Amino acid sequence: MPINWFPGHMNSTRQAIKDRVKAGLDVVIELLDARLPGSSSNPLLAALTTGRPSLKVLNKQDLADPAVTAAWLDFYSAQPHTRAMALDAGEKTPARALIKACRELAPLRGDMHKPLRVLICGIPNVGKSTLINTLVGKRAAKTGDEPGITKLEQKFVLENGFYLFDTPGMLWPRIAIEQSGYHLAASGAIGRNAFDEAEVALELIAVLKRRYPERLQQRYGLVELGADDAVLEAIGIKRGAKVRGGAVQMHKAAEALLIDYRQGLLGRITLETPEEMAAWRQAAADEEARKADAAEAARLADKERRSGKRKSSSGDA
Ligand code: G4P
Repeated sequence: MPINWFPGHMNSTRQAIKDRVKAGLDVVIELLDARLPGSSSNPLLAALTTGRPSLKVLNKQDLADPAVTAAWLDFYSAQPHTRAMALDAGEKTPARALIKACRELAPLRGDMHKPLRVLICGIPNVGKSTLINTLVGKRAAKTGDEPGITKLEQKFVLENGFYLFDTPGMLWPRIAIEQSGYHLAASGAIGRNAFDEAEVALELIAVLKRRYPERLQQRYGLVELGADDAVLEAIGIKRGAKVRGGAVQMHKAAEALLIDYRQGLLGRITLETPEEMAAWRQAAADEEARKADAAEAARLADKERRSGKRKSSSGDA
């Protein structure tokens, strides 16, 4: 899916993370969206933070399917130097559990002399400001920003010997897995002008039909689910997205579906499982390898052609 965004602020965030590593970093909290835990995970983060222990926090669990959240927690917990937990960023007690998990990941740090230095990262709109507000105990970080607004690193002292460093929400320059692009757009992580809403809504319908068909039927009073575009049209009719003359404005229908999904009005829905994500990742890697092989073959063929030309022109002489 084509996504149009400006990578400038990604570069400055990447630099901010590198600077934090240089200045001292003990634990990385990666805040993930529990509705899309694989797609919302930054593929560049591990390399940027050079293998520091990691706490994966599946936020917005109130919007996600609890059974699939449990599967993702198992998946992440099985990774080396990694812990995983799910939370709703607004809740106080699980946020305290997060501090405890960080302390356990770096047991040798966390006193006045050797403070625990924790970096929190996440995609735009994942709930980072909300969580920080909860952790800090007052409205220290602003919530409800438009995705993609740049801020510099901020430091919060959560307890004696516990420093939390916040970086701006970051996406990465190129999303190699097509499904991830759709899921990120559906979740609200990508600014609305950067993608085609109807295309994203059709992909969301495909996922919902496969995994939660009854939710679609109940929410929009649909007796049967036909082809994806027929479902979107039916949603448009239910939501009054018809223009004079009877045609349905598909972008309005798409907008209505995406708003409902983001607000949780279709119920608790997770868009992907660890197994699906692994298969997509593999397919994307195979495709990259195929493209690299084809480019290399073309380069060699070109080289051969040029040297053949040179030989024949020196033979002519
Ligand atoms: P960010 O800093 O990562 O960009 O995200 P932010 O905290 O601004 O949160 C983005 C939106 O997600 C906010 O909604 C926020 O209320 C909501 N949110 C954060 N955590 C959770 C959670 O655990 N569950 C649910 N359901 N929602 C969560 P908003 O409508 O954009 O802003 P607001 O009107 O709530 O301030």
